[in-house]
Amino acid sequence: MGISSTTLMAASLLSADFADIIGSVKRIEKAGADWIHLDVMDGVFVPNLTFGPKMVADLRKRTSLPLDVHLMTVHPESLVDEFASAGANYLTFHLESTVHAHRLLTNIKERGMRAGITTVPSTPASALSEVLDLVDLILVMTVNPGFGGQELIPACLDKVRFFDRLRKEKGYTYRLEVDGGVNRRTAADIRQAGADVLVSGTAFFSSMDAEEEVQILKGIKHL
Ligand code: DX5
Ligand code: ZN
Repeated sequence: MGISSTTLMAASLLSADFADIIGSVKRIEKAGADWIHLDVMDGVFVPNLTFGPKMVADLRKRTSLPLDVHLMTVHPESLVDEFASAGANYLTFHLESTVHAHRLLTNIKERGMRAGITTVPSTPASALSEVLDLVDLILVMTVNPGFGGQELIPACLDKVRFFDRLRKEKGYTYRLEVDGGVNRRTAADIRQAGADVLVSGTAFFSSMDAEEEVQILKGIKHL
């Protein structure tokens, strides 16, 4: 059983109207979402392009919500300084995008950010075993990264269960975040698997009542 009473919700700007980012931030704040999730895509590591550190720097001046940056880029080590200066709170990179995950996690923390790591669905959970004591956050991708609006891959929830069990057994302190296909049909299973942060783009931004959506995803309000 996950820690459902304390589940956080991170709204993903990927599904926002990029021509009205500040309107989207106001929607996120008004709805009571906990974090803003920023998907940084370079068109190389994933087949899509979004935005970079300037978006984070400009948002930092407009909101006090934690900025949760999810890098989907090659050479993530070259971006640490810029995202630190921009004011990112969490910086998460893909294990598949670097040889030196241990060094990169250390550098992110040295620059004053929380260090997150993630993998694509086809990478086994055990690939993270040597860095679990270093990470502040494990982001479990439940879709193949690159696009919003995809269906959650149910087998990926086994990874959430695995990391949740491991932290209980070994005393690790990382947060478990789930990203991709989170909606009112899938949220309860995700929370029960042990996730404590749920990312939502499509479900959040397409909802008629964003505040209600947040409460349903967090398990505060039941359908
Ligand atoms: C996908 C991104 C997600 C995306 C999730 O590569 O990492 O953060 O915004 O979108 P939905 O909620 O539409 O699945
Ligand atoms: Zn993401």
